[in-house]
Amino acid sequence: MIFKKGVLYECIISTKNEDSSYNLAPFGVYIFKNNVFLKMYKWSRTLKNVLRSRIFVINFVQDGILFLKVLAKEFNDIETFPSENFKLPVIKNCNAYLECIMEEAKEYKDFYFIKGKILSEKIFNKNFINRGNYMCIEIAIKLTRRNFNIEKELSIIKKTMDYNSFLQIKNYISKIVKNR
Ligand SMILES: Cc1cc2nc3c(=O)[nH]c(=O)nc-3n(C[C@H](O)[C@H](O)[C@H](O)COP(=O)(O)O)c2cc1C
Repeated sequence: MIFKKGVLYECIISTKNEDSSYNLAPFGVYIFKNNVFLKMYKWSRTLKNVLRSRIFVINFVQDGILFLKVLAKEFNDIETFPSENFKLPVIKNCNAYLECIMEEAKEYKDFYFIKGKILSEKIFNKNFINRGNYMCIEIAIKLTRRNFNIEKELSIIKKTMDYNSFLQIKNYISKIVKNR
């Protein structure tokens, strides 16, 4: 398994709408063994599609602009191809995609926790987007500018990276701060 426990991966999820057109939307996903874990707010069309059809495809892409394009619902110029089993759209040139079946949906006040099982896994490139990585660069820039107000970035790192990486990052930060 190439996905690390405790890391929140940012992805784009493909689902089928009721009228058979498709939907794409960004989500964060935790992956452990053969399962994916998502928190989906109730207003999301993706959630409705997952609850109805029970299938979804998780696309891992490199291009940050795609997240905005997808949110703007500008699907026309996003090239896709059908996934192996579900024939749901896979974003062309993605780093990887996972075909998933919903196993559990736990309802809370504003959101659902969705547990999915990975049916198939296609990995083309092992570079996965993680917000924590970008936060490291933001912190590095801030520290070189003597700006030590890094609480927000650290909280994102804690939420999106594994615990050992978090400890390592904190250690580097205190070394940098000490030397300044
Ligand atoms: C990088 C990124 C990660 C996101 N992660 C989540 C998430 O984990 N859960 C969620 O409910 N919304 C998340 N969102 C917000 C949804 O993408 C947003 O509500 C979107 O409009 C849902 O689209 P849909 O209604 O087509 O499903 C995220 C947005 C971005 C940009």
